[in-house]
Amino acid sequence: MNKASTYGLQSIFGLQGRTALVTGSSRGIGAAIAQGLAAAGAHVFVHGQSHKSSNRTVAAIRSDGGHADPVSAELGKPNSARRLVEQCEDQAGRLDILIINASAQINAPLARVTPEDLDVHFNVNFRSTVEMLQSCLPPMAARRWGRVVSIGSINQYAPKPVVTLYAATKAAQHNLIQSQAREYAGTGVVLNTLAPGLIDTDRNVDRKQQDPEGWKSYTERVNWMGRAGVPSEMVGAALFLASDACSFMTGETVNITGGV
Ligand SMILES: NC(=O)c1ccc[n+]([C@@H]2O[C@H](COP(=O)([O-])OP(=O)(O)OC[C@H]3O[C@@H](n4cnc5c(N)ncnc54)[C@H](OP(=O)(O)O)[C@@H]3O)[C@@H](O)[C@H]2O)c1
Repeated sequence: MNKASTYGLQSIFGLQGRTALVTGSSRGIGAAIAQGLAAAGAHVFVHGQSHKSSNRTVAAIRSDGGHADPVSAELGKPNSARRLVEQCEDQAGRLDILIINASAQINAPLARVTPEDLDVHFNVNFRSTVEMLQSCLPPMAARRWGRVVSIGSINQYAPKPVVTLYAATKAAQHNLIQSQAREYAGTGVVLNTLAPGLIDTDRNVDRKQQDPEGWKSYTERVNWMGRAGVPSEMVGAALFLASDACSFMTGETVNITGGV
């Protein structure tokens, strides 16, 4: 291999022959990342709570000439995340890249948190992460190559009181990623977190529609750039973390926040 190909974009970032699962890729940040991985050559399993919700992203990938299949699971149910990973491995014969992106977020200060809110956050954000890691890491290590990217949040280290449970479960998720990064270091499997700041997605649509002026003034103050990010701005970093380029980085966090 000559120097040009060693440092060519395809050798560093190309994902031909790789299989990826992106949870919560029916829309928002996950959909953008799924499309980015597919454009780099990966076969992508697009996940949503139902096939109906995943189909739009699958269609977009296929119309660009990429390879994608829909999968669905309600991640709040015990063992559903484990079965989701196993289904991808059975269908494709391997899972090389796992993007842990779907999450629950119920805004409430601690005084108003209900037991049901606690269960939803714990199950969707934390339990499902444990199950997916238990299922995907041993086969990745046996094949000597794997990439896990957990989509965190700046709330994992700078928690706002209105998202108490969301922030705490994001912090727990990142802690788990770090412990497993250490456990699997040297096996060819790396695990990292991508932590976005405020991104304009369905997650913020109610707030935006109910109080457009408040949203405008909030976005102007929320970071140095004075605007919310958009999902496509997460793709380059996700592609880096999912590729051969990320062979010597594990247990780290990439913050994409517009400056905070
Ligand atoms: N947007 C932001 O400002 C922001 C900031 C920091 C971090 N993040 C993080 O970035 C990630 C993506 O956020 P987003 O704003 O793009 O999300 P979003 O637009 O709200 O989309 C959520 C995705 O997760 C899936 N999902 C939700 N609950 C689920 C459940 N119980 N079981 C299975 N799937 C479920 C949804 O599937 P359906 O379409 O089928 O419902 C959808 O694909 C999340 O981890 C979020 O915490 C977002």
